[in-house]
Amino acid sequence: MAVEFPFPLTPFPEEVQAKIKAKFLGFRNGLVDVGGRHALPAHYGLFASKYFNYKFQEDDVLVMTFPRSGTTWTQEVVWTMRNKLDLDTAAAVPLDARVPFIELDSIIPPHASPPTEVVEHFRRRHPGTNPKGGGVYLDLVDALGSPRTIKTHLPFSVLSPDLVNSCKVVYVARNPKDVAVSFYHQQRLVKSAEYVGSFREYILDFWCQDHLLRAPYWSHLAEGWARRHHPNVLFLFYEDMKEDFLRELGRLNSFLETGLTESQLLAVAHHASFSGMKSRGATNPTAALQEAGNFKKGEADFIRKGITGDWTNFFTPDLEEKFEEWMEKWQPTSREIPFKYHIEKEM
Ligand code: A3P
Repeated sequence: MAVEFPFPLTPFPEEVQAKIKAKFLGFRNGLVDVGGRHALPAHYGLFASKYFNYKFQEDDVLVMTFPRSGTTWTQEVVWTMRNKLDLDTAAAVPLDARVPFIELDSIIPPHASPPTEVVEHFRRRHPGTNPKGGGVYLDLVDALGSPRTIKTHLPFSVLSPDLVNSCKVVYVARNPKDVAVSFYHQQRLVKSAEYVGSFREYILDFWCQDHLLRAPYWSHLAEGWARRHHPNVLFLFYEDMKEDFLRELGRLNSFLETGLTESQLLAVAHHASFSGMKSRGATNPTAALQEAGNFKKGEADFIRKGITGDWTNFFTPDLEEKFEEWMEKWQPTSREIPFKYHIEKEM
């Protein structure tokens, strides 16, 4: 039996909504705050209970992150490791089809249509029902053969309370300054958000106020960090993957029980290198999605720079000061998680 969704969905106050709508042209209906833990477009309300009640399977692996923390990278790695290095399929089938994004129905704007082939697939499986009401992307997760690897940016609290006892979760965290820079570029790129302001406004008026899609960053991180010792959770840092990819692949190999040899792990590292992923349409679909009208032309690629410390190219001293004030506000989590903001040697 379905359990009632435990959090109120509260639209941001009117003046905040007006500010959001003026700079994020994709959020025509503004954002709702989900119990102070997460902010999503208003139509998330159609799906909140479905996600909360979604039953994961024992051999599912969920890649969970705050956006721009290395999700795509980790999806590619986990899928490849769990699918015996099937690099032909990895090159031919888009990552989003191999590792579906469970809550995408609640992110794409209600006025936008999902790709025709996705809708047709849904109609074949559920004749006479409304794909949008039913959740086209949720359906893609259901249709996936085992073992399933699934992407989510939802925090633990809005998914099944039994999640960590039902399947494995790979949680990836990245330092908030690089996430802010990366998210700024991505929110300009995707038409579902279409940010049109400056970086300065983005940091001062949105990020540091937690008036942002998926905010608050720190509550998402706190929920992941609190579960880091659970045997079904592997907590990874983007910066550690950059610093020593093979070491982190070794941790994944044990956690996922994939039993890959050292030379197979080397092959995964090569396959999921930044340059490899940027050059393949299956992992960096920027051009295809521009063609389809989902990405704006003239913005940075979805797979952009892939470095640690790019924030130093964007933050002026006063922005950094404001950002530090925002971090103070989110103590103790913001001081407890040992983020690296620079790394000595990148792979
Ligand atoms: P930048 O914008 O800083 O370049 P997500 O997948 O969670 O949206 O995260 C996207 C970020 O991960 C982007 O950061 C992207 O370039 C980076 N990324 C993607 N693939 C990567 C890879 N193979 N190695 C390192 N970084 C990668």
